Amino acid sequence: MIICHCQNITDHEINSAIDWMRASDTAALITPGKIYHALGKAADCGGCMPLFLATMRKNDNLKVPMELRGLRHGITKENQTCKVIATSSTT
Ligand code: FES
Repeated sequence: MIICHCQNITDHEINSAIDWMRASDTAALITPGKIYHALGKAADCGGCMPLFLATMRKNDNLKVPMELRGLRHGITKENQTCKVIATSSTT
């Protein structure tokens, strides 16, 4: 099914691009812009964006990597308890 009529992009192409990006980088944040770029195209009118995003959300490979979850709530690695390791300066 054609999702983007301006650039003639199908749901199959969107899913293939997501699967390819996830396979090449497990920590990648996949955005519509990255999908357009991966397909060698650029969005034009943007009218397809709701359907484009709905198609993306149906793909299981779109999940946000665990290490990038919870960043809005201030849960980062900087807030976690840090174990200080004493080092001696032998210069
Ligand atoms: S329909 Fe996708 S950019 Fe216009």
